[in-house]
Amino acid sequence: MIKILGISGSLRARSKNSALLRLIQERSAGVEVTIFHRMGSMPLFNPDVEFGPFEAVLEFRKQIRAADAVIIASPEYAHGVTGVMKNALDWIVGSGELVNKPVAVLNAAPASTHANLALLETLRVMNVPVIPGASLAMPVSRGELDEEKMRNDVTLGDLIDRCVRELAHAVERAEQKRLADLAIG
Ligand SMILES: Cc1cc2nc3c(=O)[nH]c(=O)nc-3n(C[C@H](O)[C@H](O)[C@H](O)COP(=O)(O)O)c2cc1C
Repeated sequence: MIKILGISGSLRARSKNSALLRLIQERSAGVEVTIFHRMGSMPLFNPDVEFGPFEAVLEFRKQIRAADAVIIASPEYAHGVTGVMKNALDWIVGSGELVNKPVAVLNAAPASTHANLALLETLRVMNVPVIPGASLAMPVSRGELDEEKMRNDVTLGDLIDRCVRELAHAVERAEQKRLADLAIG
């Protein structure tokens, strides 16, 4: 079974991006979706202690290694990537867990385009293949978080299914390529 790790760039209790990941987890039969819950426990990145014994960082790296693909769902703060998300990514620039791992980039507020562009550039330079067909605008309604409304939103459900399907295809393609390369080598 394909394993997907969900990472939210928001620490808010009523985060729409975190709710989006929960909904993906809930409705995706046939793939195993785990959500990383320790984003708020990661210390601020410091290259002097990049490989230090920080539990949340070690767990973050371990869970990415164990996943076949990753879904990043993150809001935009002041036209940039949230500090929480950028900090988490900085911890794995050197250790490289995301290198060559298929990633979908989602944002529960599709009007926020600046942060997505910045995030895509960061992932590009980290050699992370972002899957365009899986990185879809997720039109979560404005206003307060309403998970029940999200759950009953047919359009959102279809987009989620497409995102997971495309991500799973990307994992299968990567695996087929790996096997073909092995056979040639
Ligand atoms: C400090 C701050 C800055 C924000 N800046 C932007 C912004 O530049 N563009 C935008 O579209 N939304 C911005 N927002 C709105 C968030 O994108 C929106 O509240 C989103 O739902 C937050 O994601 P979450 O629900 O997952 O926490 C900002 C919100 C906060 C708290």
